[in-house]
Amino acid sequence: MEVKIREIIAERVKTELLVVVITEDKLKGPLLRRLDRALKGRLSARIKKQNFCAGAGSSLLLPTQGMLPTPYLLLMGAGATKTDDLFPWRRAAAAAVREATRLLVDEVVIMLPEEENVAPAAGAMTEGALLSGYRFNKHRTNGSPTKELRTLTLGRTGRSRAVGLTAAVEKAKSIVPGIFLARDLVNEPPSIATATYLAEQAKKHCRGPGLQVEVWGKRKIEAMKLTGLLAVNRGSQEEPRFIRIRYRAGSGPQKRVALIGKGITFDSGGLSLKQPRSMETMKCDMAGAAAVIGAMSVLPAIKPGVEVVGYVPTTDNLPGGSALKPGDVIRYLNGKTAEVLNTDAEGRLILADALALAARDKPAAMIDLATLTGACVMALGHAYAGIFGNNQELVNQLIQSGAQAGEKLWQLPLAKEYRDDIKSNVADIKNVGGGAAGAITAALFLHEFVADLPWAHLDIAGTAFASKDDPMCPKGGTGFGVRTLLDYLAAI
Ligand code: BES
Ligand code: ZN
Ligand code: ZN
Repeated sequence: MEVKIREIIAERVKTELLVVVITEDKLKGPLLRRLDRALKGRLSARIKKQNFCAGAGSSLLLPTQGMLPTPYLLLMGAGATKTDDLFPWRRAAAAAVREATRLLVDEVVIMLPEEENVAPAAGAMTEGALLSGYRFNKHRTNGSPTKELRTLTLGRTGRSRAVGLTAAVEKAKSIVPGIFLARDLVNEPPSIATATYLAEQAKKHCRGPGLQVEVWGKRKIEAMKLTGLLAVNRGSQEEPRFIRIRYRAGSGPQKRVALIGKGITFDSGGLSLKQPRSMETMKCDMAGAAAVIGAMSVLPAIKPGVEVVGYVPTTDNLPGGSALKPGDVIRYLNGKTAEVLNTDAEGRLILADALALAARDKPAAMIDLATLTGACVMALGHAYAGIFGNNQELVNQLIQSGAQAGEKLWQLPLAKEYRDDIKSNVADIKNVGGGAAGAITAALFLHEFVADLPWAHLDIAGTAFASKDDPMCPKGGTGFGVRTLLDYLAAI
C-alpha cells in the first residue's frame, strides 16, 4: 500500500472512498457543515437518524448519490479526543482500510484532523493503516486472497502545517516492517522457529548500515559460561543459540543501550510440565526476542543517535532425558548461584545470563522484554504490559514512549519486601517466589543480575500474543515492544 499526503478540499476530492475521522466536538464543525451542504442536508439527517455521536469506534457510511465527487463518505468517530492522544487516529485509519477492503475499492482519502500540527496524527494513521494489512497466511493452503488497498492519501487542509508531515509518514513506514517481522517470528510454528532459525532470521533481517549480527553456537555458549541457557537447553534435541546484534552509526562517543529479549522458542515447562491448554500458545515465548530483533532490524532507517546492543538467549524448554531437574543449582557468570525449583520458570534462568553479560559492558541503560509470568497476565490482562525497574527516569521514559507509540505499560513495584521470597535453602536465590506476587518475584530474580546499572524489565506475557482479532492485528503475535523501543531509542 502506498501512503501519500496531499492538500485536499474534502467536498471536492475525487476518490473512491472519502473518510473523515471526527471527534465529538467537531460534529458540528465547519468541515461537516460544508459536506452537509454539498449533500443537501442528507448527512445531518443520517447523523440524526443513526444517532451518530462520533463516539470512539463508531462509524457512519453514506453513499453520496452523485452529490459529491466521491461515491462514499465514511465518518469515523474518534470520541472526545484531543490530537495528542494518537490511539483513535491509529484505530480509525485501520478501520477505514478495512472498510475500503470490504467495499473493494483501490484507493482511499482520509482527511487529517483540522489542526495546525497534524504530523503526529499523520504518523499514527499511516501506522494504523499499514498494520491493518498484516496477515500470516504462509501455512494455509488457500489463504483467502483479499484485495489489497493500493493507495491511501492523507488529506491535509490549508490550516495544517506541512512541516514534519512527510517525516512522520516516512517514519511510520519504516517501523512497520520491524513490527511485521516480530509478528512473523512469533507466529511461525515452534518446530520451524527453533533457536537456529531465530539466529538465521536475525542475520537475514538485521542488515544495513551500522548493523552487525553475531551468533554463538553451543561451544561458544559454553566458553562464555552462559550456564542458565545451557541448563534450560539440556532437555532439548535442538541446539541453543546466543544472538548478539550491534547497531552503531557514525563515530564519536555515544550512549550505549542494551536490549535483552527472552527467546524461548517453545515453553513446555520442562520437567515441571505445563497443562496442554497452557502450552497451546507457548510458541509465543520468544516474543521478547522477536521484539528486539524486529526493532533492531529497522534501526538503519530510524538512525537513532545511540549505540544499541541486542542480546538474545534462545532455546526451547523441553523435558528430554537429560533435562534440568527441580533441585538443580546453576552457578552464573556473575558468581551468583540459583536453585531451580520449577523448570517452568525458565525465562529468568536464561535472562540472567544475558543481563550479567550485558552488564559487563556497562551500558547506560538495559531493557529486557520477556513473556515472563502468567502472574503478570493475571494482574494486567492483555492490554497492558508490566514494567519494573531500578531507575525511575528510565521507567518513566519507557512508559512515555509506550504511550506515544500506542503500547500501554503499567509500572509494578520492584518490591524489596518480597526479596526473602526468592531465598533458597541451598543456593543464593531460587527461581520461584512464595506463590503470591509472581510477576514481582520474577523481576526481583532478574534484578540480581543487573549490577546496579539502570535497568527496566517489560513483562509482555499478556500483550505479546492476541487471542482476539483487532483491526490493527489479527490473532497471534502482536509485535508488542517494537514501537516502544524505537520511540525510546529515537527520543534519548
Ligand atoms: N512463558 C511462561 C509465562 C507465560 C504465561 C507467558 C502465559 C505467556 C503467557 C513462563 O515461562 C512461565 O511458565 N512462568 C511460570 C512461572 C512459575 C512457574 C513461577 C508461570 O507464570 O506460571
Ligand atoms: Zn515457563
Ligand atoms: Zn516461558
